[in-house]
Amino acid sequence: MHDIAVIAGDGIGPEVVREGLKVLDAAAEVYGFRAKCEPMPYGAEHFLKTGETFPDSALRAAHDFDAVFLGAIGDPRVETGMLERAIISGLRFGLDLYVNLRPVRLYDARFCPLKDRGPEHLDFVVVRENTEDAYAGLGGILKKGTPNEVAVQEMIFTRAGCERVIRYAYDLCRRRGKHNRLTLVDKANAIRAQDIWTRTFAEVGLEYDDIRQDHAYVDAACMWMVKNPEWFDVIVTTNLFGDIITDLGAQLVGGMGIAASGNIHPGRVSMFEPIHGSAPKYAGKNTANPLAAICAVGMMLDHLGEEAAARGVEEAVRRLLTSGRVTSLSAGALPTSVLGDMAAAEVRAGAGTKPPAPRATAGKPGRGGPRKRAAAR
Ligand code: IPM
Ligand code: MN
Repeated sequence: MHDIAVIAGDGIGPEVVREGLKVLDAAAEVYGFRAKCEPMPYGAEHFLKTGETFPDSALRAAHDFDAVFLGAIGDPRVETGMLERAIISGLRFGLDLYVNLRPVRLYDARFCPLKDRGPEHLDFVVVRENTEDAYAGLGGILKKGTPNEVAVQEMIFTRAGCERVIRYAYDLCRRRGKHNRLTLVDKANAIRAQDIWTRTFAEVGLEYDDIRQDHAYVDAACMWMVKNPEWFDVIVTTNLFGDIITDLGAQLVGGMGIAASGNIHPGRVSMFEPIHGSAPKYAGKNTANPLAAICAVGMMLDHLGEEAAARGVEEAVRRLLTSGRVTSLSAGALPTSVLGDMAAAEVRAGAGTKPPAPRATAGKPGRGGPRKRAAAR
């Protein structure tokens, strides 16, 4: 039995979570596991009613679950970022979920905005550090509203914090066994504090001589993601840069309607959510795309040790998106509930069938991928 806390949240959160749970039910049925879902009320409505954002008691309660499934947080009636910081960051920091895992995977060429690119070109994973950097909350505003106002927000990087997420990324790269290439994305040329990433990456890398060390500054990484996305296998990066490049990554594979993430502390309760926000303008209209939430359920199943079910969900989404029945991943292409039904039906249909043979890889990357890290650096 897996105990799952469900925070549907705001805007389109409840709608996409409903479809995610539909797929979870289908997977439980055909792969033979049980999941008990317990709703948690946190979000804008709860705050406006009670004044409570995310109390300590909720964080304590979250520790007793196997996973948290979250829809979306954010509401125009509430001060910008207040609920997001309390609930999303509250869980990431409070549960010490130091890995933010964000696959960038293209299921069908029709969803890719890049010319002549297909699934064989876009299949990489971003490992975003999730507990430090400018998100750590060290900073503030002094003399607010005066001509002498000062605003400071520190980027914090600790050796232990870098090391654990870098080690996770090396291990993941080895498990994937794709190109065995791990790319560090940073801005250590301009932000010299990020030299701690450079050094930690090289030192931990000594333990992984089967993994090629690669490096790109974040500006160049954005350029390579568009120009030669097939170069990337696993990327490890800081919290802020990981936030930014994964929105770009999402758009390369069809948009926010499909991009999922796992906030993970290996072996502990972890949190799974779509990357998209609460999209208030689509709320309650049954037009939001639930596939990102559904893919988040797939990632959650993997974390819970239900590997067959996780693969089943992923393959169901792949079959659905290559079948021609879904022509766009944007909101409104198909009703939210219909897409959820289709995905759940695919999960049921796919159970017991063998997954297709691995796709052809993109072959040798063309000239001029991200530059190799100079050995002496
Ligand atoms: C994300 C979001 C969050 C972040 C916001 C809502 C705080 O953009 O999960 O990518 O910046 O991490
Ligand atoms: Mn983001």
